[in-house]
Amino acid sequence: MLDGRVAIVTGAGRGIGAAVAAGLADAGATVVVSDLGVEVDGTGGDAGPAREVADAISAAGGQAKADATDVTDFDACERLVESTVADFGRLDILVNVAGILRDGMIFKMSEADFDAVVNVHLKGTFNTTRHASAWWREHRGGEYRLINFTSASGLFGAPSQPNYAAAKMGIVGLTFSCANALKGYGVTANAISPIAGTRMTTGIATGKASFDYASDPKLSPANVVPPVVYLASERSSWLTRRVIFAGNGRISLLSNPEVTREIVSTTGTWDDSVYDEMEESFQSAILWPNIFDRPRD
Ligand SMILES: NC(=O)c1ccc[n+]([C@@H]2O[C@H](COP(=O)([O-])OP(=O)(O)OC[C@H]3O[C@@H](n4cnc5c(N)ncnc54)[C@H](O)[C@@H]3O)[C@@H](O)[C@H]2O)c1
Repeated sequence: MLDGRVAIVTGAGRGIGAAVAAGLADAGATVVVSDLGVEVDGTGGDAGPAREVADAISAAGGQAKADATDVTDFDACERLVESTVADFGRLDILVNVAGILRDGMIFKMSEADFDAVVNVHLKGTFNTTRHASAWWREHRGGEYRLINFTSASGLFGAPSQPNYAAAKMGIVGLTFSCANALKGYGVTANAISPIAGTRMTTGIATGKASFDYASDPKLSPANVVPPVVYLASERSSWLTRRVIFAGNGRISLLSNPEVTREIVSTTGTWDDSVYDEMEESFQSAILWPNIFDRPRD
């Protein structure tokens, strides 16, 4: 599916990113395995995880290069794109997977924890995309692919993750904007909302054992990979500006925001009857419960 194509995958040293890097390489792509090797909360740094994933891809007969770019560093992300093109002659696919967690309720969250999470997820996705898109714009004629990672946490509003939820919905907006802005340059832009057993979901960050999915084979990070390979390929040129859920035995096309009910005023003004009209029109449209209101098993 991906012979001759060149990909950068951020957050590729562990978890879903490592599985994506291996899957793209297995499908024929040359992969820059980029990862800063930090703890779940973003502290520390270690070039080892990216190197190990790149070595494993090479040992399996694939083409990979390890890289330790910090996605929060705008200039370093420019160097990442430049060095990829210098080494391999092109850049076809950018997959933004890098992420951290610093959970907490909104009324207790520190400014530093909010900023750190938004900085890695949203700003990091901007940083790499900014430089990749400039290269794509200068080198029209390719089938370029932007694949960003969002989360059900943002799409549905996880109560204890206001920073992460905001960043992940920000990524959806960024993805949709890029899809519209870059379609003239051969770029599709989509977001994946994954679920997989990784250290992010083992409860290390939250301390809740109920989030330990590691032992369920349906939750292997490898099960998130097929839709990413498909999106990375040239045959997905019809598919852009969408969010696709992947994992736990499902690949789902999620709906984009659209008007589902509407009340209209010909004058543009409203009187007090608007309250009754809103209830009559909107309440019956909200059929599906918020997943965070559902009782847990
Ligand atoms: N695991 C899930 O079920 C799940 C659910 C929804 C969304 N996601 C998203 O999928 C992505 C991968 O998550 P995961 O579960 O594999 O997590 P993970 O912690 O296993 O991997 C994240 C990787 O990102 C890297 N990283 C963090 N900050 C970085 C930075 N500044 N620069 C470069 N690399 C950095 C880490 O070193 C790590 O290797 C994340 O964006 C996450 O938010 C995961």
